[in-house]
Amino acid sequence: MKDIKQNQYVLDACCGAKFMWFNKNHPNVIYNDIREMEKGFIKNRQNIEIKPDTNYDFCNLPFPDKRFKLITFDPPQVICKSKTSTLIGCYGSLDKDYDVLFQKGIKELWRVLDDFGILFMKFNNVHINFEEILKHFPQQPLFQTSTNRSKNVLTRWFCFMKIPIAETETQGVQK
Ligand SMILES: C[S@@+](CC[C@H](N)C(=O)[O-])C[C@H]1O[C@@H](n2cnc3c(N)ncnc32)[C@H](O)[C@@H]1O
Repeated sequence: MKDIKQNQYVLDACCGAKFMWFNKNHPNVIYNDIREMEKGFIKNRQNIEIKPDTNYDFCNLPFPDKRFKLITFDPPQVICKSKTSTLIGCYGSLDKDYDVLFQKGIKELWRVLDDFGILFMKFNNVHINFEEILKHFPQQPLFQTSTNRSKNVLTRWFCFMKIPIAETETQGVQK
């Protein structure tokens, strides 16, 4: 694992192969994933590798409270027992205990997010309704995007800001 530097104030909680990143080695980002996989681990996509900076479980991160200004969270979204498909190789899969994983993971990410920090979550409702994951956040998202509509299956990005309770109480937006 790489050493963590003070100026790394962005956390990708589960970076996988970093497909979504313009810069896959941005100096201000900690790329984390529970897996580390060498090139060739997916037979028909020989160039794909999973090389995070750290291998922490996003349910149990060794960072102090409020450590990050920005967190991106793109967890596995497919429930699948087979580990051999290209899709599962790239993106991982969930088992039947996914509700506990999301509950613990979101609580932990909220803990390490700074006040007024931003958390972006990407989620696809192919197997799990959006409500099933959104219920674990202490606050509503500010807004969402919706793209890739096909047969009612959607990938959405949700944007959260960790607004301290004192700031929201008077406006009645805390859940
Ligand atoms: C949908 S993929 C991320 C794809 C990534 N955003 C990209 O751009 O390529 C989800 C990743 O979450 C990782 N993951 C699953 N459970 C995890 C956990 N408990 N802690 C950290 N990473 C986890 C998987 O290994 C997988 O690589």
